[in-house]
Amino acid sequence: MEMAELAHTDPEIYAVIERERERQLNKLEMIASENFVSDAVLQAQGSILTHKYAEGYPGRRYYGGCEFVDTAENLALSRVRQLFGAPYANVQPHSGTQANMAIYFGFLKPGDTIMGMDLAHGGHLSHGAAVNFSGRLYRTVSYGVDRQTEEIDFGAISELARQHRPKMIIAGASAYPRIIDFDRFAAIAREVEAYLLVDMAHIAGLVAAGLHPNPAPVSDFVTSTTHKTLRGPRGGIILARPEYGKTLDSQIFPGMQGGPLMHIIAAKAVAFKEALAPSFKRYQEQILANTRTLAQEFLKRGYRLVAGGSDNHLVLVDLRPTGLTGAVAEKALDRAGITVNKNSIPFDPQSPKVTSGIRVGTPALTTRGMKEPEMEVIADLMHQALDAPEDGARLDKLQARVQEFCRGFPLFADEWLS
Ligand SMILES: Cc1ncc(COP(=O)(O)O)c(C=O)c1O
Repeated sequence: MEMAELAHTDPEIYAVIERERERQLNKLEMIASENFVSDAVLQAQGSILTHKYAEGYPGRRYYGGCEFVDTAENLALSRVRQLFGAPYANVQPHSGTQANMAIYFGFLKPGDTIMGMDLAHGGHLSHGAAVNFSGRLYRTVSYGVDRQTEEIDFGAISELARQHRPKMIIAGASAYPRIIDFDRFAAIAREVEAYLLVDMAHIAGLVAAGLHPNPAPVSDFVTSTTHKTLRGPRGGIILARPEYGKTLDSQIFPGMQGGPLMHIIAAKAVAFKEALAPSFKRYQEQILANTRTLAQEFLKRGYRLVAGGSDNHLVLVDLRPTGLTGAVAEKALDRAGITVNKNSIPFDPQSPKVTSGIRVGTPALTTRGMKEPEMEVIADLMHQALDAPEDGARLDKLQARVQEFCRGFPLFADEWLS
């Protein structure tokens, strides 16, 4: 997008954006929770809708002049309901964490027991971590994965649920490479009369495309971010059974947010329209194919993958056999032009600041048009960097190769929508 005015008014911020643009263009973006939005999403998000105050909901606002933004919000609502087959939706949460907060505030009292996946096993902060508001307001019982299979341990969850009788069970993860069986979570929640909240933030795009089981029909509440595999603007959404709608609407506004971000809601509507198109399913299929290829290439080179591989958009590499930590690997890969994040693995002997693993995702590179052959090249580049993490000259050479490689995959062109 043209940014001549910004360059003139604020050259410092303009320079930040230009440098970040170059970083995004010239490096391989493999953070599993990131993506590149279409020009259409970017334009809606950067539009004059940011000027409008619209506290309330379509048709019942506290400000005049909302007739046009009402249409934007109604479009976002009807599209997201269609996308996930959900009877109720709220598209106002500013983020995934705030979507979760609205569910807790609406249906729990401080001190109630919640059960979420342990942060160290792939869960999210807002699922009851001690350092997060969710762990401070509620009593958390954490569940995790089985030590052998490294897959969600439903036997243990069932036992914990019977023992602690949580008011709410939270399913969903930030770093889990396998399919999540929502039916089994639903059966456990039913048995102990707990609410079931599914936070599908990471896998929402796969769910929208029918490539991962949809939690909406079997859970009380579903939350998501819109900016990961779903490839929309940064933000959150809530889906729920219709009887919970009134409470949830009032928790978001006036309960915990003020004016909705109408430019972001319009951009969410655009992203949902893109996700309803047949090309979105092809995109998500390519994410799966790319991740599978990457997993195979890692295994071929002797790396150990948590849970043995991947059914979704990410792999978790256990670096212990290489003698590297996640922190060292992240730094070496970054110097080689490959962006990943260090990540705890289940039963990690290292602290969360060091970790024994890296989380590697394909959604952003798939958006750039990369396919299986490119994943083979990337696995090789990563291996070369991890093989000599202290060799600055070699890492710099790799970075030059990465930059050359990236040139073949232009960004910020919405050709993937055709
Ligand atoms: C499973 C899950 N839920 C919620 C969130 C939080 O989203 P946000 O960063 O928008 O608050 C994340 C973000 O990484 C996530 O992975």
